[in-house]
Amino acid sequence: MQKFRRGLPGARSRPPDLLWTSVWAISALSHEQVKVFSAFGNTTHRSARPRKASSINPRAGDLASGRNDIRILSMTNIQLPDVSVTMALVASLQANLPDFGRIVDQFGHPAPALRQLGLVHWENGRFDTAARTFEAALSLRPEDPDLWRDLASVYSASDRDEQALAAIRKSLEVNPHSAQSWQTLASVADRLDDVEAAEGAYRRTIALNPKAAAAHLGLGLLLFRRKSYAEALAAVRMSVDLDPVNGLAHFALGHLSLIASDFAGCARAFDEAARLTLPLDPPTRQKRARALTFQAMIEGRVQEALQNYGQIAGEDREDLDVIVRDAFSVLSASGHLEAAAEIGRMRLAEKPDDPVRRYLLDAVLGRSMTAAPTEYIERYFDQFAPRFDSKLLETLQYNAPSRMAKLVAGHRTDFKQMLDLGCGTGLAAGELLPFGQPLIGVDLSSGMLAEAAKRGGYTELVKSEAIAYLETTPNRFDLIFAADSLIYFGELGPLMRAVAEAMVQGGLFALSIEVAAREGFTLQPSGRFAHSLDYLKAMAADFVIMEAVEGNIRLEAGRPVSGLYVLMERR
Ligand SMILES: C[S@@+](CC[C@H](N)C(=O)[O-])C[C@H]1O[C@@H](n2cnc3c(N)ncnc32)[C@H](O)[C@@H]1O
Repeated sequence: MQKFRRGLPGARSRPPDLLWTSVWAISALSHEQVKVFSAFGNTTHRSARPRKASSINPRAGDLASGRNDIRILSMTNIQLPDVSVTMALVASLQANLPDFGRIVDQFGHPAPALRQLGLVHWENGRFDTAARTFEAALSLRPEDPDLWRDLASVYSASDRDEQALAAIRKSLEVNPHSAQSWQTLASVADRLDDVEAAEGAYRRTIALNPKAAAAHLGLGLLLFRRKSYAEALAAVRMSVDLDPVNGLAHFALGHLSLIASDFAGCARAFDEAARLTLPLDPPTRQKRARALTFQAMIEGRVQEALQNYGQIAGEDREDLDVIVRDAFSVLSASGHLEAAAEIGRMRLAEKPDDPVRRYLLDAVLGRSMTAAPTEYIERYFDQFAPRFDSKLLETLQYNAPSRMAKLVAGHRTDFKQMLDLGCGTGLAAGELLPFGQPLIGVDLSSGMLAEAAKRGGYTELVKSEAIAYLETTPNRFDLIFAADSLIYFGELGPLMRAVAEAMVQGGLFALSIEVAAREGFTLQPSGRFAHSLDYLKAMAADFVIMEAVEGNIRLEAGRPVSGLYVLMERR
């Protein structure tokens, strides 16, 4: 999605169609005539073009040079020419361009004629000249909201974003009911990375004009960047419904559909994007090939899908092992368990001793287990360790350590002996260090421990199974912190007892769980366990539950996984 620029390119490159319908009169100007206008007010290309303007009217050159007679709007960084300068320009234009004169006569005022002239410059890509023409018009009609919006758009088109922002805010000050102006504000704010202002402005545009396809698309892209995928998908779908010939909208729909595991929809949207705009880029073609392959697998044609993959992907094809591995995890995460099981069996047949393949197949088949096998944990996390941080933090929006640390800090901020149970790569270290020392990290995976050592912050890192460590350590902790670790235990009784044993009275136990849809605990197709709060409480007889806060633990198949952050105190 790096391809998506902030803001909507369409809004920057040409005048809005609504306005465009009114520029027919001036659009008939000859190329030569237009060049005269350009030279008249162009500073950017001053050296490249002869200043014909001075031969038309020497005073009018002041408009371009900015030397004198300029009013600076106090609330903005925008300069409007003095009225006398504008009137000199108008006189010159009237004398040299009969069409311009006719429009002045038609409207009985030069401002509309200047505006239409500005639109012609804009349409022809002469943004600086267009801006100066709109500025001239505004010097005569400083309270015209449409002129301010036009000015904002051409500023934006020439990367003068701060000025664009000031101009569009001025437009909205005069008329806060224009959907088009809110859309312009949204695009400008989006380009400036002011996500909050952009989102508010997109939503305001939609409230004023629910059929504003560009606003739905802009909002969808913004939500996409924020990884609010379900909402982004709804917004982009709406924009496609309203404007089915916008290739960018189909392109975005393709990416979002893949995240939402709508494989057929993804391939359809990419094909439509390609038909409407340009050929797809290689990474997108790879995604399309994956989507078609996964869809065929869901339809019960696993073998056939794998055979056809090379042909579908062509020169963009990925390693088939990677496709099979990803198909297994994507299809199990999105609930297509039959297809996932078939792929899982295939993978296990290839490597019958692989504990990761065996356990994950068991999970997909819904076999009953009381904990993830230690061989699985070790192998899986050893392989995952180097990618863990970027995957969890960036892709899956995981932030349990910081959420839990805040929960703890709400009650107590100094501890004498802390344990990070299932410490992984040490994401919690930075959160826990302000609470005191020593901090011990325990984990089964040496790969994860190696990453934690690189990160630093631990007094000691121990490679051990969690319960085995708790049962044998002489330490007595006043904080035990288990972020995203209980998800590898189904039955919690033995773990809770061991934690209680290794704590001092009044010590705190902070943990996170994924919430089960039914009572007790469940092994999910992901290989992680989910627990009900009642079950957790029943297993926590040695503790008093101080707080249980709902929150999303991570994303899975583009959807948030709901969980609980829990803080309990040792009785
Ligand atoms: C999802 S990671 C979370 C890591 C870290 N707490 C964090 O928040 O980033 C789960 C970690 O728990 C460890 N783990 C799972 N079961 C374990 C067990 N029975 N004993 C020790 N460590 C275990 C895994 O090796 C892995 O590093």
